Amino acid sequence: MAKDKRAPGNSSQDFVSGAPSRSIPPNFEIDWWTLLTDPDFLTNPYPELNRIRELGPVHYDPTTGIYFILNYRLFSEMATTTQMGRDTTFWRNGWNSPENRLRDPETYAMFTEFQPQMINVNAPDHRRMRGVFEKAFRPASIANYIPLIQDECDKLIKFLPVNKSFDFMSAFANPLPHRISLKLFDIPEEMDEQISKWIAALSWLGNIIVSPEQKRDAQKAQKGFKEYIHGHLASHARESGTRFIDLAIAACKHGTMNEEEMLNNVVMLISGSRTSLTLLGNGLFTLLKHPDQFKLLRENRELMRTAIEEMLRYEPGSSLIPRAGIADFQCGEIVIPAGSMAISLVGAINRDPERFDNPEVFDVARQPKPNSAFGGGAHICIGKALARYTGQVAFNTLMDHFEKIECAGDPVWWTDRSDQRGLSSLPIQLS
Ligand code: HEM
Repeated sequence: MAKDKRAPGNSSQDFVSGAPSRSIPPNFEIDWWTLLTDPDFLTNPYPELNRIRELGPVHYDPTTGIYFILNYRLFSEMATTTQMGRDTTFWRNGWNSPENRLRDPETYAMFTEFQPQMINVNAPDHRRMRGVFEKAFRPASIANYIPLIQDECDKLIKFLPVNKSFDFMSAFANPLPHRISLKLFDIPEEMDEQISKWIAALSWLGNIIVSPEQKRDAQKAQKGFKEYIHGHLASHARESGTRFIDLAIAACKHGTMNEEEMLNNVVMLISGSRTSLTLLGNGLFTLLKHPDQFKLLRENRELMRTAIEEMLRYEPGSSLIPRAGIADFQCGEIVIPAGSMAISLVGAINRDPERFDNPEVFDVARQPKPNSAFGGGAHICIGKALARYTGQVAFNTLMDHFEKIECAGDPVWWTDRSDQRGLSSLPIQLS
């Protein structure tokens, strides 16, 4: 665990004393790289995140040149400013920066290949690409898919063992969002396993450490996935239709996106939906850890909407939200210079006491306020309504079918990735 070795002359007081703007916050000598990959931290990051947030809302890692944000207000300002964006080519010396082209041509080429898609570009390209799908992902449109979500949920529920311990993640939380997203994109069930493997391989690219082997696997997966989507759209999509695949093909035909952009965006939309498994796993784990709240929710289902927001706040599935500096950005007392990388730490922001009363309390009836679980600003998760409905339908269906949902062993958190927080297993018993 990182130690607080505060450098002489630096004080957290500087953050609140109105000290003149500068680009380097006080140095608390936190070994960020070690911290963010430490299995103890990844199992329970909150005590350390709270401690670091109390030292200051913005930290700087001199080893990597990365800024870390731990405060809701500053996160929100950063998410909405036009001075910071998600295009990592602006990150000086970053993976796909011009500077890295000569130093690490392989990594440069790979990230450059993934670049043209909504999550990796800034305005106006971002608006152009996101605009193709935005309306279809609004809550009112996604509500039309509730029967589909329910249907997939019912199919899985039938096979859950009763009065016997089993792993909730492999039996329910992993397959449900995956099946929903394949249905939304009209992909046949026989592709289930192959697409699951492609998504798993691609998901490592969001991590802060990517091994050469993972990069190679991701590149292969991207190629295979895109080739498949290309053939699938060519044979199934209709230019005038309203399904997700029709929107993609129409955008391409009308020149809103080129083919490369269209394929990358469809792959991202299908892969992104995997994140919902963290809401199902982290959410159920949190309910099991708070039996009084679980009971309250079971007996007052009208609380389901606020309960889902609280699960997302309290145990968020995305841990790191990056932004690269387009221009100098005043972040509280600190100026983050153009060309810098800044990472918002969701676990710290969602428990920021300046923003949330009693942030350490899990309260399914808490009046929801926006938090950082889905990011913010122009890039806020496009799939948030789909994720929320999936959570609502899943938890309601589980509670409708089973009188008792109990913990049947210790859950195991992912300790091999820093960008997302989820469970590799959650043993439970139903009766
Ligand atoms: C609980 C589930 C989910 C969580 C926690 C989550 C979280 C996030 C976060 C943190 C971002 C980055 C936002 C930012 O940079 O400010 C994001 C973006 C995105 N997510 Fe999700 N997500 C979830 C579900 C989904 C689903 C179901 C889909 C697919 C439909 C999806 C597709 C995307 C896409 C395409 C983006 C990029 C949006 C853009 O750049 O405009 N996500 N998500």
